[in-house]
Amino acid sequence: MADEEKAPPEVHHYSDLQEVPWDIQNYWSQRYRIFSKYDEGVWLTDDAWFGVTPEPVANQIAAHIAERAPAGRSILIDAFAGAGGNTIAFAKTGKWKRVYAIEKNPAVLQCARHNAKIYGVDKQITFFEGDCFQVLKNQLKDLAPYSVIFASPPWGGPGYRSDEVFNLKTMEPYSLETLYKEYSAFSEHMALYLPRTSDVKQLAKFARGDSKAAVIHYCMEGHSKALCIYYGGFNVQS
Ligand SMILES: C[S@@+](CC[C@H](N)C(=O)[O-])C[C@H]1O[C@@H](n2cnc3c(N)ncnc32)[C@H](O)[C@@H]1O
Repeated sequence: MADEEKAPPEVHHYSDLQEVPWDIQNYWSQRYRIFSKYDEGVWLTDDAWFGVTPEPVANQIAAHIAERAPAGRSILIDAFAGAGGNTIAFAKTGKWKRVYAIEKNPAVLQCARHNAKIYGVDKQITFFEGDCFQVLKNQLKDLAPYSVIFASPPWGGPGYRSDEVFNLKTMEPYSLETLYKEYSAFSEHMALYLPRTSDVKQLAKFARGDSKAAVIHYCMEGHSKALCIYYGGFNVQS
């Protein structure tokens, strides 16, 4: 491991099933699919287990964005960095001059920073603790012309697991409309990581006049884990 920093109290590296809280045991049993370097000391808060993008999916998304981002875009902003699943994958591609990772929960951000060190990519990433909408408007506004935004928001609200079609209007705490409006004021080039059952009509609503918006499902073992909607001229059809 890169250093001997101390984990905040809500951050853990569980190495034995007996220490793992019951509601994350299922996630822990898949820990190497989530972070292949788990045993090198990966940190997570108990809540972060539920939201982290598994490494193979994060790698696929990072490859797609790197290959198909519009010309002239050299900055990748991960607006909801969490424990770093996607951020690390973006940095590993070597495509970006800089990766900016924003996370409002300080303990979770510390996990992202620590996990990026384990993967040897922390030097390519600038970490921001705070609200992504504010950070985009304030600290990062000058980078807008060069940036692509990736966002994996929380999928809270009614129905994520039970509804056949997930309603993006009632997604909490940020609806699709809120995300789209906030991000498009900064950069039209964005990829949003959303539940696999997301309402396609709602996704299409924001693609008006943008013939190249596209949905890609990301699958593991023959099952869709989630989808990304790409808005703003990603070269996703070739
Ligand atoms: C689904 S998780 C992201 C997981 C991440 N992609 C990963 O692979 O580890 C969503 C994260 O967004 C953070 N978050 C929620 N609202 C935020 C905001 N307004 N600005 C920045 N981060 C926020 C939450 O604390 C949570 O860690």
